[in-house]
Amino acid sequence: MKFHVLTLFPNMILDGINHSIIARAIANNLIDLSAVNIRDFSSNKHNKVDDYPYGGGVGLVMAAAPIYNAYKSLNVKKGTKVVYLTPKGELFSQKKARELAKEEELILLCGHYEGIDQRVIDEIVTDEISIGDYVLTGGELAAMVLIDATTRLVENVIKEEATANESFENNLLEYPQYTRPAVFMNREVPAVLLNGNHAEIEKFRLEQSIKLTKERRPDLLNLYENCDN
Ligand code: ADE
Repeated sequence: MKFHVLTLFPNMILDGINHSIIARAIANNLIDLSAVNIRDFSSNKHNKVDDYPYGGGVGLVMAAAPIYNAYKSLNVKKGTKVVYLTPKGELFSQKKARELAKEEELILLCGHYEGIDQRVIDEIVTDEISIGDYVLTGGELAAMVLIDATTRLVENVIKEEATANESFENNLLEYPQYTRPAVFMNREVPAVLLNGNHAEIEKFRLEQSIKLTKERRPDLLNLYENCDN
């Protein structure tokens, strides 16, 4: 899977995400990451990419042409999704990450200042995604969140079993995990995890997941109870 990020801060993306599992996925050619500097596509002699909003108001708006030209330079296949990261977008989720992980190629558009000229959004954007109900200074961190969550669901990046039972799969939060030693600061690992009875362990973990979800995310528990499990 190939991610192209259209941004004013390409190094933020390239330095920020190229670590750990993502770096290994890049090294193993499971994903590819390119960051295109929108400023390189400005026709202005000062490389300006923003301007005052028509109609007045505070702040500057990113102009349509440099973004459109940066997009065209990618020369992607027709139908390639273009995701604009914006607080106005659909809330990002594990479900959306699974959906995006199936794409061959994805373009991520990062905004700055007071937003982007609506006409280029209307022209090229297929999806608008928010990573939460707060406003960031730009779309780059949101793009990195999306790349990280999506990459770990791309085939062969991590073992499928590792993602099957984690939080948000099946609308439940993940059960607590323990590793050696069996006693830490007088706190013992739950005995059921030591007895090797896999059916009992599974039952215990499901109970723990349901308890945690009930306490912390009752909204998810409703979804869990209303779907086939
Ligand atoms: N850009 C600024 N804030 C954002 C958010 N919450 N999600 C996605 N992109 C953003």
